Amino acid sequence: MKALVLAGGRGTRLRPLTHTSAKQLVPVANKPVLFYGLEAIRDAGITEVGIITGDTGAEVRRAVGDGSRFGLRVTYIPQEAPLGLAHCVLIARSFLGEDPFVLYLGDNFLIDGIAGLVESFLSGGHDAQILLTRVAEPQYYGVAELGPDGEIVRLEEKPEHPASDLAIVGVYTFSPAVHDAVRAISPSARGELEITDAVQWLVDNGLRVHSHLVGGYWRDTGRLRDILECNRIVLERVEPGVAGTVDQLSEITGRVVVEAGAVVENSVIRGPAVIGSDTKIISSYVGPFTSIGSGCSVRGAEIEYSIVLDGSSIEGVSRIAHSLIGRNVEVSRAAGVSNTHELMVGDHSRIQVSA
Ligand code: TTP
Repeated sequence: MKALVLAGGRGTRLRPLTHTSAKQLVPVANKPVLFYGLEAIRDAGITEVGIITGDTGAEVRRAVGDGSRFGLRVTYIPQEAPLGLAHCVLIARSFLGEDPFVLYLGDNFLIDGIAGLVESFLSGGHDAQILLTRVAEPQYYGVAELGPDGEIVRLEEKPEHPASDLAIVGVYTFSPAVHDAVRAISPSARGELEITDAVQWLVDNGLRVHSHLVGGYWRDTGRLRDILECNRIVLERVEPGVAGTVDQLSEITGRVVVEAGAVVENSVIRGPAVIGSDTKIISSYVGPFTSIGSGCSVRGAEIEYSIVLDGSSIEGVSRIAHSLIGRNVEVSRAAGVSNTHELMVGDHSRIQVSA
């Protein structure tokens, strides 16, 4: 069994972060979301992993390396353009050979891992297994329509009028039969070779496609609110510990990680929260479900339910919530003038200020 992990794509929904950075490397509880996937693959007993990369390939390679620190052997497969999930399978043909494999979307997160899913596929004798989960807004996902006996009738990518609320989770398992499917299909209206079309081809050609309803927590972290929600779920399970320094005037409650070299002074931290290495929290409030990266500075500020990436500073601002703040960002109070917002913001940014 091999794994094919998709870490290319456009990441339009996470601009401006994805102008400079891979969306699969956005940290959840201070660890790139892609790493959770690689660990889940390893924990399922798979060691041979192909990673599809796009424009951000160099950054992904720097972060993952040869995979040895995850106990994996990684082969990089550059994709010339984001031509679709089934296109990724097409260009990975020689890497995949005649082995069955897991197709894992690098920005997806499953709290229960994938060991059980891989096992059920290997013992089931199917040609493909897809995972389904009920969602509130199926129009944003690949959607499955099932027949009376639970068999797959039809799959549709981001349908305007969804036939069900069953979204396709971004982890698929395939036998080598899928290679015929990805060669047989044509690009969709949006110009991509869709994996839903490949699976539909398998169904239409009488191959054994099994669907499995997942009960555990799953998120596609392609959108801001999903990343924040994922961060919440992971922080709820984080092992608390203080390796940095916390002064007497500070109050720390709940699950809180203060990483090595971090300094907390005269502040309140209400977990669950993670404070990254060499970060300073001075005279501030850090509320629940917040991950602050390494080398950040939070002074005279309040922040909760947010993610702050490495090297950013937040000074004299209250209260930031539901926010994702990129690397080396400065957020501070405008000097002298009241009720004024002074902004220098990158393309495709989103800012919501209070009145
Ligand atoms: P998507 O989230 O469906 O696509 P995207 O990355 O282009 O994002 P957006 O809709 O915000 O523009 O992709 C799922 C995963 O697969 C993601 O990790 C990116 C990856 N991917 C590839 O590696 N190659 C591709 O051709 C496509 C379409 C996606």
